[in-house]
Amino acid sequence: MSGFIFDLDGVLVDTAKFHFEAWRELARDLGFDMDETFNETLKGVSRMESLEKILQKGNIDASSDQKLSWAEQKNQNYLARVQKMTKADVLPGVLAFLEKSKQLKIPMAVGSASKNAVAILTLTEIKDYFQVIIDGNQISKGKPDPEVFLLAAKTLQLSPALCVVFEDAEAGIEAALAAGMYAVGVGDLEKADEMISGFEGQDPEQFILDPL
Ligand code: BG6
Ligand code: MG
Repeated sequence: MSGFIFDLDGVLVDTAKFHFEAWRELARDLGFDMDETFNETLKGVSRMESLEKILQKGNIDASSDQKLSWAEQKNQNYLARVQKMTKADVLPGVLAFLEKSKQLKIPMAVGSASKNAVAILTLTEIKDYFQVIIDGNQISKGKPDPEVFLLAAKTLQLSPALCVVFEDAEAGIEAALAAGMYAVGVGDLEKADEMISGFEGQDPEQFILDPL
């Protein structure tokens, strides 16, 4: 049986915009700006690695303590935005896709770099669809390393070759491919095995992989 592993931010829920807004506010506080093109390079990347990329862009050097404090500032800003989320912030077509997958008894996991994953899944009321949630608290190497997806497959007790990953970030597609999984890009992701623009009108049965 195939299993599905979903990235969270930008795949299941519309949080990618909140990450962008919160990082942008920090960048502006530090005296420079960042646009959506630069933001693409942060998608799927852990909080501290994202901060490193932003500081590099702004040519800013800082102590470890200062970096931790900026990361915390960004996270508080992000959480203030996220607190208002409800089921309505689940991306179009996702609820129907999860419901049909559940009826088909497809094992499902979340594989996210975020340390806020469980809180967001709870706020948006989709947590119970997933048998396994692997997030930024359980992994030591972020995407594009395959660790998050390999741990999700292991916990689902599925071989990686039978896992389909849904991802909106280039780093996530690279991680899925490195894990030996089938990568579905949500958005314009050329390295993916297949691309979809979103879940609206998608049938989970189309993504079930045949066992070898
Ligand atoms: C990923 C997002 O899912 O999680 C990144 O795409 C984010 O933008 C990363 O930086 C870490 O998230 P958090 O919630 O732990 O800061
Ligand atoms: Mg994402």
